[in-house]
Amino acid sequence: MKVVTTFREAREEARGRVVLVPTMGYFHEGHLRLMEKGRELGDTLMVSLFVNPLQFDDPADLARYPRDPDRDAGLAAEVGVDVLFVPPLEEMYPTEPFTRVVVSGLTETMEGVHRPGHFDGVATVVTKLLAGLRPHLAVFGRKDAQQLAVVKRLVVDLSIPVEIVGHPVVREPDGLALSSRNVFLGPDHRPTALELSRALMAAADLVEHGERRAAPIVAAARGAAPHLQFEYVELVDQDGLTRIERLDRPAFLAAAARVGPVRLIDALFFDLSPEGEPVPDRGVFLEAPSVLYREAG
Ligand code: PAF
Repeated sequence: MKVVTTFREAREEARGRVVLVPTMGYFHEGHLRLMEKGRELGDTLMVSLFVNPLQFDDPADLARYPRDPDRDAGLAAEVGVDVLFVPPLEEMYPTEPFTRVVVSGLTETMEGVHRPGHFDGVATVVTKLLAGLRPHLAVFGRKDAQQLAVVKRLVVDLSIPVEIVGHPVVREPDGLALSSRNVFLGPDHRPTALELSRALMAAADLVEHGERRAAPIVAAARGAAPHLQFEYVELVDQDGLTRIERLDRPAFLAAAARVGPVRLIDALFFDLSPEGEPVPDRGVFLEAPSVLYREAG
């Protein structure tokens, strides 16, 4: 594995079909599964590791974002990453950027309400990564469901020739969606945090029993999480992110809640079977707790 710090060096390593997995580091199995998927889909697997200041609305959140680049490099090498692109701030933003990518229409709801400016920062850095590294394909996690829709839309709007692939949410054995921020969850917070995935699974159960109306599906989710103070629970269509009344098209149920010091988000996608029936994507469950917890002791 080559560790490089400039776009040019990264491009010089490209052979055949290039797959990019963009990350902000502090790897857990969610990232590693994305990388394994990426490994299958191309010839050169690039992973970018950059904690993007532009997407943090709160400087304190940026300052405490967990970082461990040496451990990340070891984990990336183990899963067969070819190029680990770790740009310093001056490579990514040599000057204060005058250009921002704003995907209006998809960023005013859900996360956009609670994290002003966040998606402008994400869309801008993802556009820079796609322009600078020129991958044929890029893999993003479905946990950040709204981000995935924003990225899919920006590549269409800006005619960027890249295929965007969404990967199922990777979960702890108890259902908690993996996130680098989970390292800040204390044992006292865990039972409440678990209610988030339980809420989504309850909604999926109801759909599997035949319910198609949005209101009871959302109510089932809220009802399964009595101790959680949700910021939102929304059933929306996968591409346009508009709230839907009935589950009659590809959709996802997204939810966010603050648990102790951590803001958690999770999502459950409903894809359509060939017969047009919604099929819940419950994600991938790990068999043993994440490396994050094992290594944090
Ligand atoms: O999902 C993330 O880790 C980030 O938002 C991304 C896509 C790497 C952009 O900084």
